Amino acid sequence: MSSHGVPIPMTSRPCGPLKGEARVPGDKSISHRALILGALSVGETRISGLLEGQDVLDTAKAMRAFGAEVTDHGEGNWSVHGVGTGGFAEPENVIDCGNSGTGVRLIMGAMATSPVTVTFTGDASLNGRPMARVTDPLALFGARSYGRAGGRLPMTVVGAADPVPVNYTVPVPSAQVKSAVLLAGLNAPGKTVVIEAEATRDHTERMLAGFGAEITVADSEAGRVITLTGQPELKPQQIDVPRDPSSAAFPVCAALIVPGSDVLVPGIGLNPTRAGLFATLRDMGADLTYENERTEGGEPVADLRARFSPDLQGIEVPPARAASMIDEYPVLSVVAAFAKGETVMRGVRELRVKESDRIDAMAAGLRANGVTVEDGPDWWTVTGAGHGNVPGGATCASHLDHRIAMSFLILGMATQKPVSLDDGGPIATSFPVFEPLMSGLGAQIQRSNR
Ligand code: S3P
Repeated sequence: MSSHGVPIPMTSRPCGPLKGEARVPGDKSISHRALILGALSVGETRISGLLEGQDVLDTAKAMRAFGAEVTDHGEGNWSVHGVGTGGFAEPENVIDCGNSGTGVRLIMGAMATSPVTVTFTGDASLNGRPMARVTDPLALFGARSYGRAGGRLPMTVVGAADPVPVNYTVPVPSAQVKSAVLLAGLNAPGKTVVIEAEATRDHTERMLAGFGAEITVADSEAGRVITLTGQPELKPQQIDVPRDPSSAAFPVCAALIVPGSDVLVPGIGLNPTRAGLFATLRDMGADLTYENERTEGGEPVADLRARFSPDLQGIEVPPARAASMIDEYPVLSVVAAFAKGETVMRGVRELRVKESDRIDAMAAGLRANGVTVEDGPDWWTVTGAGHGNVPGGATCASHLDHRIAMSFLILGMATQKPVSLDDGGPIATSFPVFEPLMSGLGAQIQRSNR
């Protein structure tokens, strides 16, 4: 089932060369953070290029429920009149974050040090995901939480009336946990310190600095040490959201596996904490170049040019790169199916607690389409059959997971037989224009009745 309606079965058929320009939407991670920090600043934050996917729309709605004035001016231009640090009002109703782990975890952090009580819920996928990884550190600030067994949503969080700052080492590589602690630290007096052993996406740190918070980042033997001074007055910003590298991954990977393709994907954020997939594809022999490299709004940006790559080789993906490409393993596994030899992906336990268990979901669909996959608790391997040799022909389950859905549609563009999907509805959470954009390049995706 789609998270917001009836299932939308789809079929992707083998297609001719993909050609043209793919203007993918704004970055999902940056879009959530722009709305939340806008809501916590005093005055008007203006945002251009906001991702208008369901995940981000749910966060916009939540910010209104906390008292911020959030206005859609059309074409990705939004404004947020914030309530200031510690100014969140108590929402009158349950906060429904839909499919979005980022939304719920960041918002929990942002409200946990204000004297408000909030009940959170989501769709079947989100209500199955672990929240203790966030509520454990929030308890150190003085917040209390009451959820279902295993720390699952629906869950009520009682914000701390007298929060204390916290020193916290993040036990799993998670930007959502790190960000929740930093956002909670905003309204705690004194210095909140977060230590992460592995660097994860750093948009929260960058954006907090942009909004005028006192925040420092230092490298130590224990990892990155982030120190935030609480109770700043955040100053509203103009935020131009770069295009999402995690969405760019789909047209890029499609171009690499469909013979004759040549696709330009302009204006992609290449923050090093996000760009691991592109380095990995180049290591595999992909014809992928960065053109017009520049800096926009403090983030590195380039135009990506991807061409059909006849000699892709399987590789061992460096586990140290995992955090910088964690959302891209599903589509990487599709490219790996068309490479020669084995692609080995280790150190990826976190894939099992995303919108779906992404190792299980991809392994099942790839195997059904004739690809050899092996997997264990924190690793998986895909044995490539080489271009033209991947059978296809099966129907895959998307498990309420947008990236699983899009990955299987990319698979079907280069298999011998079409690949079908039980439900493409989840794609709207992060990439609402996926179908027209890919069709515009020459893909053959149809909504189908199975
Ligand atoms: C995100 C962090 C990652 C990623 C998610 C977006 C973020 O999750 O998978 O899509 O914006 O902070 P984890 O923090 O669980 O690794």
